[in-house]
Amino acid sequence: MAKRTVVKMPGDGIGKTVLPEAIRVLDAVGFKADYVHADIGWDCWINDGNPLPQATLDLLQQHKLGLFGAITSKPKKEAAKELRPELQDKGYVYYSPIVGLRQKFNLDVCIRPCRSFPGNPLNFVRQAPGGGVDEPRVDAVIFRQNTEGLYAGLEWTNPPEQVRAALATHAKFKAFESVPSEEIAISTRVFTRNACRRIVEAAFKYAKRHGYPSVTICEKPNVLRETSGMMEEMAKEVHADYSDIQLWSTNIDAQMMWLTKNPEDYSVIVAGNMFGDIVSDAFAGLVGGLGFACSANIGDEVAVFEPTHGSAPKYEKLDPPIVNPIAMVLSAAMMLDHVGDTDKAEAIRNAIAAVVEEGRVRSYDMMRISGGPESISKGAASTTQITDAIIARLG
Ligand code: NAI
Ligand code: MG
Repeated sequence: MAKRTVVKMPGDGIGKTVLPEAIRVLDAVGFKADYVHADIGWDCWINDGNPLPQATLDLLQQHKLGLFGAITSKPKKEAAKELRPELQDKGYVYYSPIVGLRQKFNLDVCIRPCRSFPGNPLNFVRQAPGGGVDEPRVDAVIFRQNTEGLYAGLEWTNPPEQVRAALATHAKFKAFESVPSEEIAISTRVFTRNACRRIVEAAFKYAKRHGYPSVTICEKPNVLRETSGMMEEMAKEVHADYSDIQLWSTNIDAQMMWLTKNPEDYSVIVAGNMFGDIVSDAFAGLVGGLGFACSANIGDEVAVFEPTHGSAPKYEKLDPPIVNPIAMVLSAAMMLDHVGDTDKAEAIRNAIAAVVEEGRVRSYDMMRISGGPESISKGAASTTQITDAIIARLG
């Protein structure tokens, strides 16, 4: 197979720590690739007023594959204050570059697998009916619509007159009619049939390929009748081609409650952008949390793989670094799945499983101790030691 070029975007904070670790593992498993660096994140914002440089977009357009670490984001006003003085008050507005990437390349299918590794002390346990504890095996794969819905950025504080007028055509706007515009903030939730179909189809296809028995649509169609309703309708349509897979439907709020009751019952889950964000974080919490939560953002042309954690600035400067590289390494393994190198991806996951099960090399989060310079003296492994252990276990 031709050698690939991967765009590496470490970003900020611990993104810069964990991304090189993932590349070490990719090299060790024998994945042949060149890596080109691309800037993204906070430094780009404060120096140039743009957290997502055109050069980065060009590299992704050219090479199609990206590995992303994490970025630092701050609210609008705080972000504006940190701009280089020459750029202040020039109309630059901060936006999240990872959300930008998803929208720019239409990376509309987000996949977040949440699988427990046996022996992980962070796995969810519950009381067994006869005493003692149960540790259910969690194997849920969340498909989150990644570009639309409440995160599409279609929002206003003090909406313009036309927006108000448009809303006033809806009977339900009567309740807000007497509120002055300056007192109103609006975030819209736009779903399109095409995007709903794509995320649902991706989920069913995945369930079929990997032998999962069910696909669960996790929305709120009894209240959000139009948007959640459209997702459900699409799911029923697509389901017609997958009669051997069951179609389930849960409401996001009830799903949060059932999550800790019977997480082992769920396999592939589909949700819109915000509910997908929520349900995937919740499932990730059952299998080790941010140190283990990996993801893929997949479009027709371009795909970007990233851990779901952020830049954890408080750990950025620690030497040796202590953060868990597993979420980033698992994300890199998803890249291998994506390009069809599934054996290598599986080899990486098996190596991680072996390290976790053996339990000799554990990051501070896996030891349930607080993170800091003293973590290592308390027996926690450093970031690089964890990677070394994974590499040593590669078959
Ligand atoms: P965070 O994910 O950076 O960190 C929260 C806490 O989780 C950390 O303090 C640490 O205790 C733990 N943690 C995170 N990653 C870990 C790892 N690999 N190993 C061990 N422990 C880990 O979230 P926080 O503190 O809310 O945000 C920090 C910055 O990151 C903010 O600027 C935020 O906007 C940004 N962020 C960026 C994301 C992205 O790049 N996709 C996602 C989430 C937050
Ligand atoms: Mg999130």
